[in-house]
Amino acid sequence: MANRRRAKITALGRYVPPRVVTNHDLSKMVDTNHEWIVERTGIHERHWVEKGTPTSELAVKAVDDLLKRRGIEAGQIELIIVATVTPDMFFPSTACLIQDKIRATRAWGFDISAACSSFLYALTTGAQFIESGRHTKVLVVGADVMTSILNPEDRTTLILFGDGAGAVLLEPCAEGEETYGILDYRHEIDGSGGEHLYMPGGGSLHPSSRETVEKNMHYVHQNGQAVFKYAVRKMEEMSRSMLERNNLTGADIGAFIAHQANLRIIDATANKIGLDQSKVIKNIHKYGNTTAATIPLAVGDATDDGRLKKGDLVLFAAVGAGFTAGCVLARWAY
Ligand code: COA
Repeated sequence: MANRRRAKITALGRYVPPRVVTNHDLSKMVDTNHEWIVERTGIHERHWVEKGTPTSELAVKAVDDLLKRRGIEAGQIELIIVATVTPDMFFPSTACLIQDKIRATRAWGFDISAACSSFLYALTTGAQFIESGRHTKVLVVGADVMTSILNPEDRTTLILFGDGAGAVLLEPCAEGEETYGILDYRHEIDGSGGEHLYMPGGGSLHPSSRETVEKNMHYVHQNGQAVFKYAVRKMEEMSRSMLERNNLTGADIGAFIAHQANLRIIDATANKIGLDQSKVIKNIHKYGNTTAATIPLAVGDATDDGRLKKGDLVLFAAVGAGFTAGCVLARWAY
């Protein structure tokens, strides 16, 4: 029986495509304006791929960045878990495509579909393989090309999303590091919320056809207010329960890194659980909602500017389509 041990994040890589799309640019495509977008979402600009760029391409660039920073070869990776709602195609999985492109010759892997919560689901899943003792190097990737499923004529969704990728490496904590790494997690799904955020076309229920395309079923459909209400309620509830069951208060948290979907959702959660604004990591203004990539992109910014340091307690939280929700508590280990 393998020893149980804690998993810690030991490296991070990220990538956003170079093309910046401002709110002003969007106002030339749909009936919207900078002031409305900033007031309702906090987004100023986002990065979009050039048309035809697949998710795996962004993911590979993020993974290359990670490998360089950690100083390891792709051949040392044992497992690749990819969080995405925009895989290059239904199959093969994007994990397979990434494995081939980076030549991770010893790795197996798979994709996880949990929309905006998928990075945390993948992180928790990857941590289990470290804790069980089966693997020592697990790559967790969050990558999405949301522009591949956005209706360019729908102002209610077009303004929200961006493209991007992030990746973290999970490895076992060393002896004496028992208080570091991933300490606790909590996840939920509530399928009754499925009708509020979904992409109906292209699956087995509505296989792609001229009709599905004419009805715009290959695009994101969203009831923004219903998602907003659920997100505010659920993110607070999960974050609060995570603190309570670990005998913590907001004051103990060094960094709060939430899925970046809307500045108002992040701020409402932070206020309700008693977090000082200086602890709340926000970068939605420059990336928008990159779905599976928001959390690793925010971690990158937080480590860059010194707001996330070794020894800090970090609370991750996410809510997304499904509905899906999750929270992870970790002590930052590098
Ligand atoms: N520009 C200008 N006006 C817009 C607009 C845009 N891009 N999008 C919608 N509007 C209009 C609406 O048509 C509506 O007009 P009306 O009052 O004349 O009917 C008005 O603005 C208010 O729309 P509403 O949908 O009530 O706005 P809101 O305050 O709920 O904000 C969202 C909309 C989408 C920003 C907000 O609901 C939201 O963030 N929801 C959660 C989305 C999310 O996080 N999704 C990802 C989940 S992980």
